[in-house]
Amino acid sequence: MEIINSIESFRLARRKIHLDQSLGFVPTMGYLHEGHLSLINQASQENDKVVVSIFVNPTQFGEGEDFGEYPRDFNKDHELLQHTGCDIVFYPPTKEIYPPSDNIDTFVVPQKRATMLEGKIRPDHFKGVTTVVTKLLNIVLPTTTYLGQKDGQQVAIIKKMVRDLNFMTKIVVVPTKRDHDGLALSSRNTYLNSSNRQKAPIIYKALKSADHLYQIGETNSDILKNTIRSMLTELDIEYVSVADSDTLEELTHAKPGAMISVAVRLGNTRLIDNIILGQGS
Ligand code: PAJ
Repeated sequence: MEIINSIESFRLARRKIHLDQSLGFVPTMGYLHEGHLSLINQASQENDKVVVSIFVNPTQFGEGEDFGEYPRDFNKDHELLQHTGCDIVFYPPTKEIYPPSDNIDTFVVPQKRATMLEGKIRPDHFKGVTTVVTKLLNIVLPTTTYLGQKDGQQVAIIKKMVRDLNFMTKIVVVPTKRDHDGLALSSRNTYLNSSNRQKAPIIYKALKSADHLYQIGETNSDILKNTIRSMLTELDIEYVSVADSDTLEELTHAKPGAMISVAVRLGNTRLIDNIILGQGS
């Protein structure tokens, strides 16, 4: 497995991968867990070569958010990656992606989808995500890019960006990996103290209850959302949504493939999770 820190060296390595070979790409911010690894495993099963990027992207963190504190441990990530099918780790320093001598003046700015859900609370977050993903896609030139359903809105926005701007890559979405008690794995779970960690699994239980209600015939979104709210009274709820998983428009009636998502605060930690109706993940 090769570790590459510069765009120039990456481009040289990329040229050695033949045009008829498939390249799977997993963009990450590091502090890898089983969720990331499931994307990497799927990428390595489906491709000749696999690239994983590790880059904590400053432009997707708002003012007062956790860019400085975001957990980082490259040595541990490197060790974990050695047991996967990853061929190249692209691990650039911040200045390689955002040269201080050449302030960025061009952004990729998603529109409608970025104003919903997370976008209401984190206004410029997705502009940072789509800009860095554009840069990474232009550097890596993957045939397929793997994203986690854990970040359902990110999936909808990146898929639409790829369609709108004619990126060559195909997008594959991988189901959410969960801890034994249902909590969706996230690098940010490390922020939870033990009492909040004990409370957190109720999020997935609430999503499952709504899914169950839907399975037995309830499609009224208000009833589904109220069921979730009534189970999360101990948490500070930011939103509960039943939305079309592509357009992210709110639905008054749930339908197969709709996304139920929640964002909560537990202490100082924000947690997001979602399920796709009828898929049970
Ligand atoms: P990060 O949070 O590190 O996540 C990297 C990828 O792993 C994303 O596609 C995310 O959805 C996926 N992922 C995270 N937790 C998961 C879980 N429990 N199960 C399955 N997949 C999971 O998302 C980002 O980084 C950044 O926004 C990025 C796309 C890299 C752009 O900076």
